[in-house]
Amino acid sequence: MTRISIYLAIVYILTINECTKIFHLSDCDIKYVIKKTQEVKLADCENRGLNFIPQNLPGDINVLDVSSNQLTAVENDSFVNYKYLQELILGNNQIEYLASGSFKGLYNLDTLDMSHNMLDLSKAYSAEIFVPIKNLTKFDIRSNMPQPIDFEKDFIYPDHVFGVLSELSFLGIDMMPVPQFGSGFSQMTNLHELHFQSCYLVSLSNTTFQAFSYFLQELSLTKLSTKSRKDGC
Ligand SMILES: *[C@@H]1O[C@H](CO)[C@@H](O)[C@H](O)[C@H]1NC(C)=O
Ligand SMILES: *[C@@H]1O[C@H](CO)[C@@H](O)[C@H](O)[C@H]1NC(C)=O
Ligand SMILES: *[C@@H]1O[C@H](CO)[C@@H](O)[C@H](O)[C@H]1NC(C)=O
Repeated sequence: MTRISIYLAIVYILTINECTKIFHLSDCDIKYVIKKTQEVKLADCENRGLNFIPQNLPGDINVLDVSSNQLTAVENDSFVNYKYLQELILGNNQIEYLASGSFKGLYNLDTLDMSHNMLDLSKAYSAEIFVPIKNLTKFDIRSNMPQPIDFEKDFIYPDHVFGVLSELSFLGIDMMPVPQFGSGFSQMTNLHELHFQSCYLVSLSNTTFQAFSYFLQELSLTKLSTKSRKDGC
């Protein structure tokens, strides 16, 4: 009898361990999908109520989708376990803080979606933040800026920070009332598509887009918002 209960207790402990493991892994679904004729490994963590970046996913994932969660910050070294990531989707959270070492280790990243968050481009971001991901070709950071207080003041985009991203071919960003794009943007010589979310735009001049490459093929100013949120469009 005693032996049976010990046995049962052991089985019970094993079962609990097994359950915890499955529970943690089941935060996200691991799938294989075809992207540009290539099979990639995707961790789908969309809409799981997460307020942290999961650290227990397979180290060889190529796509991480953490969109529509409750993230408010990206801390240093958040992705160092996922060095094969090509695409990172952080859209639709409430991210307002990016540590300067947030993207460390993401040397293969090609696409970054940070749209629909609360990042303020006028905050002092250090130029080093994008250095690990300077090979990025697609970057979407639209629908982030808070409603401006002063609609007449020039807004100087932090070109020393963005200029690092010289391989970009697609950039989506918020347009401020009186935008000023510094010379750092002229380093984006591969830029083909430039999309502005222009909720607050008041004035453009003949020099506004001067810094951007002559090779630009598509420039859009959109007032349409997919989310009726704080962006007030
Ligand atoms: C994050 O890393 C940077 C260096 O990449 C360092 O300067 C900074 O102090 C770190 N921040 C925190 C909160 O540890
Ligand atoms: C960018 O890509 C080039 C060539 O593909 C590679 O040599 C370089 O190490 C990459 N840079 C970074 C920061 O990953
Ligand atoms: C821009 O327009 C102003 C007048 O509004 C003109 O004096 C200036 O030469 C123009 N600059 C360019 C680069 O076309």
